[in-house]
Amino acid sequence: MPQKYAAGNWKMNGLVTDLTEVLEIDKGVADLACQTVICLPATLIYAADGDPRQTVEIGGQYCHPAASGAHTGDISAEMLAEAGASYVITGHSERRTDHGETDADVRAQTEAAWRAGLVAILCIGETLDQREAGETLSVLMSQIDGSLPEGATAENTILAYEPVWAIGTGKVATPDQVAEVHDALREKLGPEMSLLYGGSVKAANAAELFALTNVDGALVGGASLKAADFVPIAKALS
Ligand code: G3P
Repeated sequence: MPQKYAAGNWKMNGLVTDLTEVLEIDKGVADLACQTVICLPATLIYAADGDPRQTVEIGGQYCHPAASGAHTGDISAEMLAEAGASYVITGHSERRTDHGETDADVRAQTEAAWRAGLVAILCIGETLDQREAGETLSVLMSQIDGSLPEGATAENTILAYEPVWAIGTGKVATPDQVAEVHDALREKLGPEMSLLYGGSVKAANAAELFALTNVDGALVGGASLKAADFVPIAKALS
């Protein structure tokens, strides 16, 4: 049975004073069956390490493939792990777009995450044009084939399906759209890997998504910034 995850992606949001929200989330999810992960900007990972969290795990949002070297502004998986992260997002569509990350880049980042002992939350997703052209499943399968290294297991990788057209738009994918993709992902990736949906997940739509057979949780952006918004989503999963 795949592990259930309520994962948050703060993206480039939050200062140290905002980490009180992580502690509030920690209180709210204390007795839930799902695993809660909050993926923070790298500077906040250091600040959060050693705080009195009991349940919430911390993740990063990107890692360079190398362990060290002349890569100004980058961060290694080893640095994230040392700072207290246990997870790292790889292949988020905003990095694939803003930083020109290719499937090969994502594959290398995912291998680096494993090298440092981090669980990779590997993101895939189609654009609106690709969906409207009927290319959704072929695009997603190609992204998996290009981005997912040999050796992926339910212990080192979580797969997050995030339709690009649903991210930050308020246009959540319909249950039928999510079911079609997640059923195909389950067939390709096997029975144990956790499959998360991301893209405008809110407390109001979470339960309907989590009722789908092959949805094992969510990767939440905007609604993960505040405990009042995020804890109800985690509770809908449990
Ligand atoms: O990684 C999660 C993110 O892309 C989803 O963002 O704001 O649509 O929940 P949001």
